[in-house]
Amino acid sequence: MSNAVSYELSGAIAVLTIDNPPVNALGLAVRQGLVEGIERAETDSQADAVLLIGAGRTFPAGADIREFGKPPVDPYLPEVVARIEACTKPVIAAMHGTALGGGLEVGLSAHYRIADKSTRIGLPEVNLGILPGAGGTQRTTCIAGAKATLDLATSGKPIDANAAHALGIIDRIADGDLKDAALTYAHELITAGAAPRPSGKRDEGLADETANRAAIDATRATLSKRARGQFAPFRIVDCVEVALEKPISEGLAFEREQFLACMGTPQRQGMIHAFFAERTCTKVPEASRAQPRPLKQIAVIGGGTMGAGITVAALNAGLPVVMVERDAESIARGQANVEKVYDGMIKKGRMDDAGKAKHMALYTPATEYSAMSDCDLIIEAVFENLEVKQDVFRQLDQIAKPGAVLATNTSYLDVDAIANVTSRPQDVIGLHFFSPANIMKLLEIVVPSDPADDAVATGFALAKLLKKTPVRAANKDGFIGNRIYKAYGLCATYMMEDGASPYAIDKAIYDFGYPIGIFQVHDLAGMDISWANRKRLAASRNSEERYSAVQDKMCEAGHFGQKTGRGMYVYPEGARKGEENPDVLKIISDEQARLGITPRDFTQDEIMRRYMAAMVNEGAKVLQEGVALRPSDIDVVALYGYGFPRYRGGPMKYADMYGLENLLADLREFEKEDAYFWKPADLLVDLVANGRSFEDLNKES
Ligand code: CAA
Ligand code: NAI
Repeated sequence: MSNAVSYELSGAIAVLTIDNPPVNALGLAVRQGLVEGIERAETDSQADAVLLIGAGRTFPAGADIREFGKPPVDPYLPEVVARIEACTKPVIAAMHGTALGGGLEVGLSAHYRIADKSTRIGLPEVNLGILPGAGGTQRTTCIAGAKATLDLATSGKPIDANAAHALGIIDRIADGDLKDAALTYAHELITAGAAPRPSGKRDEGLADETANRAAIDATRATLSKRARGQFAPFRIVDCVEVALEKPISEGLAFEREQFLACMGTPQRQGMIHAFFAERTCTKVPEASRAQPRPLKQIAVIGGGTMGAGITVAALNAGLPVVMVERDAESIARGQANVEKVYDGMIKKGRMDDAGKAKHMALYTPATEYSAMSDCDLIIEAVFENLEVKQDVFRQLDQIAKPGAVLATNTSYLDVDAIANVTSRPQDVIGLHFFSPANIMKLLEIVVPSDPADDAVATGFALAKLLKKTPVRAANKDGFIGNRIYKAYGLCATYMMEDGASPYAIDKAIYDFGYPIGIFQVHDLAGMDISWANRKRLAASRNSEERYSAVQDKMCEAGHFGQKTGRGMYVYPEGARKGEENPDVLKIISDEQARLGITPRDFTQDEIMRRYMAAMVNEGAKVLQEGVALRPSDIDVVALYGYGFPRYRGGPMKYADMYGLENLLADLREFEKEDAYFWKPADLLVDLVANGRSFEDLNKES
């Protein structure tokens, strides 16, 4: 027997235990072991039934994703599940933990299923750009119908054991110890003379033809918006449709074809890259050297946009928060900002009054810094002004308990300049949340010049507690995200000034897969903020840098964005979606006339070629300067903080797939018109010269 699956007899039951930590993924050894185990049980005269169970924390959580993209090795998962389903003795699957993807498909190939009540059951393949390739779309439809299968497989979200039981996917919920309950169930089945019951031959799910048809049509309609640009979700619907119309053998063959088609797409590469990238980003030197400090009580200074969002994120995680503001009026506003979030949820039916009260019970408003003296972590989110922040940190130094971690949420300021006003700079880090902080998953953890390892580790521990995705960034202007954002923002502005309409630029970006275009983002964030930042940096701006005054002129005329009802777009009363703003088009053409620019056309392709070249080139500079640890961390920042389409993996993954030599050739071409902005990063030139990729750097990190 393969050592990943053990065989033992418990009375008349052959127990096959899958043991392949950490998540019992269905790698080659497990697949071989399952086939061997089933064959042995069939010929074992003492075995009347077979029990499949996972050792450790879970029933298999899916295929082994690390094998994807490599040549497949026999037995493939569809063969394994076919072999289990064809077993001449009843097979019972006992599930716990996360029975996901191929794991659930193995469960479905058994004839009966029992699950621990905390089991999560799902078909998350769509999150990896693929679909359940071992009968998941077919057998689930046979049992539970089209709607349930489509919900599971197109959302990728797992359901709990009770819900799966209600759908007929699970036959019984285990009471007490899973293995004991499963053995009891198996004995009952033997006593009752239960025969093998292949899921593929069941038809409860096929009975209501009208409902099944309606589910197919409704899902296609919602996916056309929700899964715009994606391949796999639509193939899942096709598979379920075939399950309704064709015999199971044809359905399985069709599903296999679609699975292989998904495997061949760049989207699969992008999404699997994202899966590993968002796990790798938590691996940082400081956290590997030190344990985090305790995190029982935190404080947030400032109750504005960010302070309130951070507070809600912490309250939602069950962390008590002291919020400190300047005076009674400001703290009342801060508290109102927090309550507004919960009231919004109540209005949408996502929370009730009791839920709000439970969260607010953890909230303490204050106007005195001494209220924070017991806190383990203090996050400052006051105005973006160095003197104001330094003043706050001087006061914190007086009152914070020894060992408290002091954090700043600054977007651009120098964290060392803030840390160094205290007597304990080693305890100071940057925690750069994104707006709205209770929703956005990205958290840049900014590491100044000489922090204590455990202070940094505490930042990562906080991210885990708040269910955020943390990325380590060195302390340099704009850190990772805002610095790269600024570069491709400039690129968009230059294209606009050279003749591409801002609306065509936004459309190209939207069609690429972003939820909205960059000028729509500017309108949402408010252009006054970047205007202030440009003024701040005016004195230090390099004279070689091309400067576009279009947005300054817009701000001077009050086109700040949604907050003033007009920016790059105009927003008629109450509208969230904007219309073209003729005043802006006039400002652009006036600027072109002033600068002697003859506007020219840009195709969508050229717009995106420039946009991506600017983004990746700045990413390469961020890497060569050590601001990001690895290319995949930059991808995570773009995916979680800036709406980069997940199915493209992130900008650095995109660049690898586009070809670094092609990207460099684009930069060389653009460099002829603006040698300063388009200067290729040395790292990129180096990688191309040595035939290497960003993925090579990921592997070395
Ligand atoms: N294959 C290979 N490695 C896997 C894996 C998989 N299916 N699932 C998790 N891992 C690895 C992770 O990369 C991580 O490794 P490191 O410790 O080296 O970083 C380790 O297992 C633990 O994973 P998490 O840190 O994610 O642990 P968690 O407890 O937070 O989450 C989980 C556990 C819910 C199972 C989560 O890992 C998960 O969602 N896994 C993927 C599930 C999935 O997508 N399954 C479908 C696979 S595709 C398929 O099955 C296709 C098919 O039909 C043929
Ligand atoms: P805001 O203006 O909405 O809120 C700032 C709050 O700080 C105000 O309520 C003010 O009363 C309070 N405050 C000022 N001085 C104080 C003091 N000495 N003690 C206590 N409270 C004080 O600003 P916002 O947008 O929340 O930004 C806060 C910080 O977060 C800034 O550093 C900003 O750069 C950063 N940031 C902002 C993002 C955004 O999208 N708004 C995103 C990420 C970071």
